[in-house]
Amino acid sequence: MATTKIIVNLPGEISYDVRIGEGLLEGLGTQLRSFDTSGQALVLTDTNVAPLYLARVKESLKAAGYKTSEIRIPAGEESKSLECMAEIWEAMAQAGLGRDSLVLALGGGVVGDMAGFAAATYLRGLPFVAVPTTLLAMVDSSVGGKAGVNLSAGKNLVGAFKQPRYVCASTDTLASLSEAQWACGCAEIAKSAVICSDEFYFWLEGAASPLARREGETVAQAIARSVVFKADVVAADEFEEKGLRECLNYGHTLGHAIEALAGYGTFSHGAAVAEGMRFAARLGAAVCGTPLEFVEAQDALLDTLGLPALPWAADPRDLLEAMRKDKKVRGGEIRFVVPRDVGDWELAVPDPALVEEHLQAWAASKAGNMPGAC
Ligand SMILES: NC(=O)c1ccc[n+]([C@@H]2O[C@H](COP(=O)([O-])OP(=O)(O)OC[C@H]3O[C@@H](n4cnc5c(N)ncnc54)[C@H](O)[C@@H]3O)[C@@H](O)[C@H]2O)c1
Repeated sequence: MATTKIIVNLPGEISYDVRIGEGLLEGLGTQLRSFDTSGQALVLTDTNVAPLYLARVKESLKAAGYKTSEIRIPAGEESKSLECMAEIWEAMAQAGLGRDSLVLALGGGVVGDMAGFAAATYLRGLPFVAVPTTLLAMVDSSVGGKAGVNLSAGKNLVGAFKQPRYVCASTDTLASLSEAQWACGCAEIAKSAVICSDEFYFWLEGAASPLARREGETVAQAIARSVVFKADVVAADEFEEKGLRECLNYGHTLGHAIEALAGYGTFSHGAAVAEGMRFAARLGAAVCGTPLEFVEAQDALLDTLGLPALPWAADPRDLLEAMRKDKKVRGGEIRFVVPRDVGDWELAVPDPALVEEHLQAWAASKAGNMPGAC
């Protein structure tokens, strides 16, 4: 399988390459040497990823003459905390990193967000390299430059924008992902395709089954298309000031509320986002005439990608309350990205009564499917 190179050009930033292909970890050190002269790198990874891929990365860095050190954080969202970040800063000091040393994230979105934030803050900024190992991180979190940690008051409340200098998506690392993790990445791919264009969406409709089966060429193409889409959106609105980057929140308004109310970890982030996409499309039918054929086609696409409708509902008033508490809320208004159709979206601020009415219908539609229901 050939390697794909995508160049991300952001106004005012150093452009960087995203490389997508199999077996890229072995050449990582050489790739880094093409722009870096420091000869020192710190690898941040987690306890699941380290036994699988750290040796290959270290070997490659060593072969390219790097002095390396490593930090392993416990796998999971709980590590995305200020306490863990403080330990990382201390370890960076112990490792003797200088202003030009590389900080390399080897792992999923948690490691990427932590390493990016550490790179943005330690010594007021070190170069950052992303080596994503989950599908979600390859298609979404490794491109765009958002980095940060959670507080007990909410997710991602403290952070920074930190663009990588290089992204290495070695697709062979995806072989060890669980089904749930795979579906999480597929949800973000589906989100991107719906918002992006007819071309991406109809390609994905045809590619959904091989993608769900993890067929190599299809996986690489899905990653490349998602990266191009996200890079374009970020280039147009890097700091989320123009309203364009908000399209990336498609499915996330209800998705975040579901995660918060069901309890984090009850459903995967991707499953919650997919449910949010189903809901937002139906809301779109009322808000801006989203065609029923699209709503149904999107349902079928998500089903094929292993993201079936959730057998779960909550009181619509509790969901509304959870949505009001979301950090994306502005001026107390609940905002939804709704698709007018494939490749065409708008940011809607529907009357809360309309949202509640739709939530009632959504909850009622679940009544026969809930565990234990007859
Ligand atoms: N910065 C952004 O723009 C952005 C965008 C989307 C999501 N995120 C963040 O990303 C995080 C979610 O990312 P995620 O889903 O990758 O979660 P994650 O990093 O927690 O990874 C999920 C699990 O998979 C394991 N894992 C990673 N790679 C593996 C591999 N190749 N084989 C086997 N197991 C592997 C991890 O150890 C972890 O247990 C959230 O914290 C979210 O806020 C950030």
